[in-house]
Order: sequence, then C-alpha cells, then structure tokens
Amino acid sequence: MKILLTGGAGYIGSHTAVELSSMGYDVVIADNFSNSNPIVLEKLEKITGKCFPLYKIDVADKAALRRVFEENEIEAVIHFAGYKAVGESVKVPLSYYRSNIDTTLSLIEIMEEFGCKNLVFSSSATVYGKRASLPYSEEMETGPCTNPYGWTKLFIEQIITDYAKANPDFSAVILRYFNPVGAHKSGLIGEDPNGIPNNLVPYISRVAVGNLPYLNVFGNDYPTADGTGVRDYIHVTDLAKGHVAAIDFAAKNSGTEIFNLGTGNGISVLEMVKAYEKACGHEIPYRIAPRREGDIAFCFANAKKAFEILGWKTEFSVDEMCRDSWNWQSKNPDGYK
Ligand code: WQD
Repeated sequence: MKILLTGGAGYIGSHTAVELSSMGYDVVIADNFSNSNPIVLEKLEKITGKCFPLYKIDVADKAALRRVFEENEIEAVIHFAGYKAVGESVKVPLSYYRSNIDTTLSLIEIMEEFGCKNLVFSSSATVYGKRASLPYSEEMETGPCTNPYGWTKLFIEQIITDYAKANPDFSAVILRYFNPVGAHKSGLIGEDPNGIPNNLVPYISRVAVGNLPYLNVFGNDYPTADGTGVRDYIHVTDLAKGHVAAIDFAAKNSGTEIFNLGTGNGISVLEMVKAYEKACGHEIPYRIAPRREGDIAFCFANAKKAFEILGWKTEFSVDEMCRDSWNWQSKNPDGYK
C-alpha cells in the first residue's frame, strides 16, 4: 500500500515514515521544507534502508500535487503539512488560515480526482476549548479555540467531516495529538524547531545542551500539585505508531472517526525538568516567570477510545521520552543544521 505523507519530512511525519516503512508500507513524501530539513530524507534512508520518493512541493499547488498522484498509485494520505506555531498564528492569522486550509482543500480535490479515499489528518488537542472538562474525550464539544492555529485545525476537521458525509465511501481518521516529545531511538531524527523553541521539551533540551542559559517556567501559581502547568506528553514514536493503526482502520472503514492520541497522564513542568535532569545527568537551571498568555492549568487525554477501537496505546514512559530527546539533542546540538 502506497501512502503519501504531506509534510512528511517534519518532526511527526518523519517518525511516522519510519513506523510505516517498518510495517511494510511504501511511503512517498511531499514537503516544501518551510519548517523541515531535506537532510531528514538521508536520515530516514539510514534508519529504514529505503529511499523514499520525495516531492519538494507546496501541497496547495494542485498542479504539483497532481503530478505526485500521476507518478504514484497513492492509496492513502496522512496530512501533516501545515503551520503549527500557536504564538506565530496570533501574529499572522491570515497566513495560517490561507496555508493550512488551502493545502487541505487542494489535497482533498486531488484525492477525489484520483479516487483516493483514505485520509488521516493531523489534528490537535488544542481544538478542545476552555469549556471542555478533563480528561478530554472525543465526543466532547470543541472550541472556542484560543488561537488561529487551533481554529485552522477545527475548521479542517469540519471540512473533512462534511466531505466524508457527502462522499459515503470516503474514509477519514482525525487524530488529536496531545504533547508530542522525544525522538527516534537512533538519535538520527528528532525535533528541530526553527529559532527559539516555543514548546517546553525542545526548550529544555536546548538548555541541557548549553545552547540556552536557563528555562523560564511560565507560572508556578496554577491550581496543580506543584503550581506549574500539567500536560499529556506522548513519545513521538508512540504517536507515529498511532498513525499506522489509523491507516489500517481507515482502509477497512468509511465515514469519519476521531481519536485522541495521548497517554491519559498529566505531567507538570517541574516534573518534566526533573525527568530531563535524570536523562542528561546534570541540572537544568530555571527561573519562575509570569504565566504565558493563553495557557491553561491542565490538559490531558481520555485515551480509551484509541485503545478500544484501534488497539493502540502508548508504551514509552516520561523517563524514556527524556532519554530519547537527550540522545537526539546531545548528538545533534544544532539540530539538522
Ligand atoms: C507545555 C507546558 C507551558 C515552554 C502546544 C500547542 C498545542 C500543541 C502542543 C500543536 C505549559 C510550559 C512551555 C517554556 C514553560 N502543538 N512551558 N516554559 O502549550 O501545552 O501545547 O504544543 O499541536 O497545540 O498549544 O505545549 O510545550 O508550549 O507548554 O513553562 O519555555 O510547559 O506553560 O504549561 P502546550 P508547550
């Protein structure tokens, strides 16, 4: 089965390519490298022994995307391509709406032209608005989102759901990620955000490797055990395996199904710092800073549905997430550069 990964050279996409390949799937990658690095393809070949067909294109460019489908018999698509920085989306909302929604509309139109009926979409727990009670469950009401990035994910979920309703033999699986962290056990691929990381673990790993002086802990006055924010961190390899399960499910079903991909456990900022210190073997200096605009105290998944229906559950512990993150960062202090 040939699977197209849009944004497949990115953090989640590249790890998913490894897991799909290990399960015997043929992978094709389309990526414009706006937030990823071409060198990832060489790393993937080292890990898997396979050279994946690569198309350096903007997925919104239908003529370019049509060529991918003309040259490869694509039976399913995992749609990772899209901008994903929450803070940036607040500053440049139009480019987020234009890019994330255009790529999706172009993709579905081309899939229809070629009769490709299986789509897995990379969504996010950010679609659960402030009203949602914990732990977040798939049947809960979504929104209002706290940033344009989150709204694009919610709008795309709606686009896909409506399209699947109008085309009963179409099969869509929407995956709501919680907080992906860690790296492939080889240390050859990992998280390499552009500029100063917004997210906690890549920031901690840059402090651990000496590229940043200390971590700012955004608030220690939340109503949590130690006052710092609690999140559901999931190892990127567990997340990638969830995509393989989703592809298998999509091929056997039709309609739209939504799954949380999380551990169901909450870890605080300071607990993550402690776990990382264990992994890297030295102290992670930090300072308590004011709360970050838009942050919430708790966010974690009800992960039952993915286990009951996909037979998928997470296997890696927080210590293993930090171990693998450190293995990547210490071997690649400047990421892929
Ligand atoms: C985690 C915790 C911060 C950085 C975001 C997106 C979400 C998803 C995952 C794409 C919070 C604290 C962080 C730092 C800190 N992305 N923190 N110092 O905000 O839960 O989710 O990334 O789908 O859509 O919203 O993740 O890693 O930014 O923050 O104290 O330098 O770490 O306050 O409690 P978040 P995060």
